[in-house]
Amino acid sequence: MTDILDERVPGSSSDDESSTQAQVSEEIRRIAAAHQRSGATENEARLDYPPYRSSILRHPTKDPHRVDPEGIELWAPVFGERDIDPLEADLTVQHGGEPIGERMVVTGRVLDGDGRPVRRQLVEIWQANAGGRYLHERDQHPAALDPNFTGVGRCLTDDEGAYAFTTIKPGPYPWKNHRNAWRPAHIHFSLFGTDFTQRMVTQMYFPGDPLFALDPIYQSIVDPRARERLVATYDHDVTQPEWCTGYRWDIVLTGSHRTLMQAETPS
Ligand SMILES: [Fe+2]
Repeated sequence: MTDILDERVPGSSSDDESSTQAQVSEEIRRIAAAHQRSGATENEARLDYPPYRSSILRHPTKDPHRVDPEGIELWAPVFGERDIDPLEADLTVQHGGEPIGERMVVTGRVLDGDGRPVRRQLVEIWQANAGGRYLHERDQHPAALDPNFTGVGRCLTDDEGAYAFTTIKPGPYPWKNHRNAWRPAHIHFSLFGTDFTQRMVTQMYFPGDPLFALDPIYQSIVDPRARERLVATYDHDVTQPEWCTGYRWDIVLTGSHRTLMQAETPS
């Protein structure tokens, strides 16, 4: 896994704590209204989205320069199926004790645009703990670390394209996009594909989060249908008695209903 944090973090020079949530929300509202008036279909996150203050620093300003991937990027195996231990899909058993928080299972299928399962794909996740804290040196906000929770896991999809993780529901956390900015709870997902050039990264959210309307990262996807495809559904059939709650989230890689992925950012 590479980046633990996708957003600008405390201390970033692009932070704009002089803005209030009301100002940022008004910017979000104006952009959404203009989009609605345009009647355009827009299924990508906007790269340059002013309410997300650092977005201007996070995308290319010039057209991409296409180069062929090197041979090693196309054929070198980066992991073998035998390298993945099934226990790595359980983020609650990586230490000596139980992590704090709501134990949950998140499961779903990785599908192509025609609904066919995408098998044997490496799915990686990383997330904050129940208190909204990442185990990462750049996250120093005053929420407790959990000695029994690292927040990373991985698995391979099965014959049906299904993945499943047991984890702890992450908490929302503050970031310094503007004053009193909080991210909705989310889990980062990476789908590796078959080589380095295919990796896709996105975020999964939880239904009904009151922070959705306030979050400029979530709102940088201006099409509400595309946004909603990033939100898992609560599934009582995934919930297990006396054990955990359950969420379901399918990932569609291609086609008009594909799951939105984060654009590549310049190195
Ligand atoms: Fe995050």
